[in-house]
Amino acid sequence: MRRSTLATAGLLIFAATLGSAAIAKGRVATPVAAPAASVTTVDNFRLVTAAGRSEDLYRYSDAKAVVIVMHAVGSPQVRAMAPKLRALQEAYEPKGVKVLMLNSTAKDSREAVLAETKALGLGAVPVMMDDNLLVGDQLGATRVSEVFVIDPKSWKTVYHGALADGAKGDVAARALDALIAGQPVTTASVPASGAAISFPDRLSAAKARFATISYAKEIVPILEEKCVACHQQGGIAPFAFDSYEKVKGFSPMIRETIRTDRMPPWDVDPKVGHFKNDKSLTPAEIKTLVRWIEAGRAARRRTRPSG
Ligand code: HEC
Repeated sequence: MRRSTLATAGLLIFAATLGSAAIAKGRVATPVAAPAASVTTVDNFRLVTAAGRSEDLYRYSDAKAVVIVMHAVGSPQVRAMAPKLRALQEAYEPKGVKVLMLNSTAKDSREAVLAETKALGLGAVPVMMDDNLLVGDQLGATRVSEVFVIDPKSWKTVYHGALADGAKGDVAARALDALIAGQPVTTASVPASGAAISFPDRLSAAKARFATISYAKEIVPILEEKCVACHQQGGIAPFAFDSYEKVKGFSPMIRETIRTDRMPPWDVDPKVGHFKNDKSLTPAEIKTLVRWIEAGRAARRRTRPSG
């Protein structure tokens, strides 16, 4: 119930922002919900691409750079940037740069994504489907066509914004040149012009709700159903989830295993088939667990004495 309400609100906001995409360029800025915090480090994640392959960010730890471009089907900005993006991929992948796109619309079908990227000549750029909207949110994405250049040495975003800019030229490519040469990136950001992407979880009502997720009533039932078969005394997992303190203590690791889709160990693409005894987490469970952990972390930050 709660989730579908949020999702509907998200779609409505998304539809509303599509209408204002034309004016988003330069003159009138459409309001964009601010990312949770100014993101510097991109946490690991695993997502399935539109082509059904699995991508995880930290697999590219040996790359010179990882480029992630925010995608949406029907975006005029993605269409306009396609030739330049393709040229960038062709020029920089041989130099050790990985180029990916990220679809955080929660509405585009894989078929539509594949058909359009192929038509735009972007068939060689994998589009990761961020169905739970967790990855685009953590990345700090705000607009379709926004480019993130990530340094795998630190997993920090060293550049974000437009691929190229009328006045400043090929800003993203210059950031890549700098990274490859081991030099500092001089331009950290140039505003992108695509339609605003809505992340309903960034709204204050959603954040207030995450802060009240109940350990006993919401977290424990999920752990009991999906985890404790293995994570119990004498179970096959190396530790038991049998107290609040333990679960709290393991929570950063739990968040990581969920975002990278490693736990519960069930490697089936949910779009491909549905199996009996499927212990994988539902989207609502993923969100509840991850947001509960993140809300706890934020609360600790707030209460930490300053200075
Ligand atoms: C089928 C058995 C099984 C289930 C179900 C399961 N786990 Fe695990 N888990 C393991 C095993 C085995 C390990 C240790 C070896 C490994 O990492 O694969 C582990 C390790 C972990 C770790 C340690 C980090 C790591 O990468 O090794 C975390 C955190 C974790 N599990 C969380 C969870 C959560 C949360 C759930 C439920 C949503 C869950 N597990 C469900 C078997 C399971």
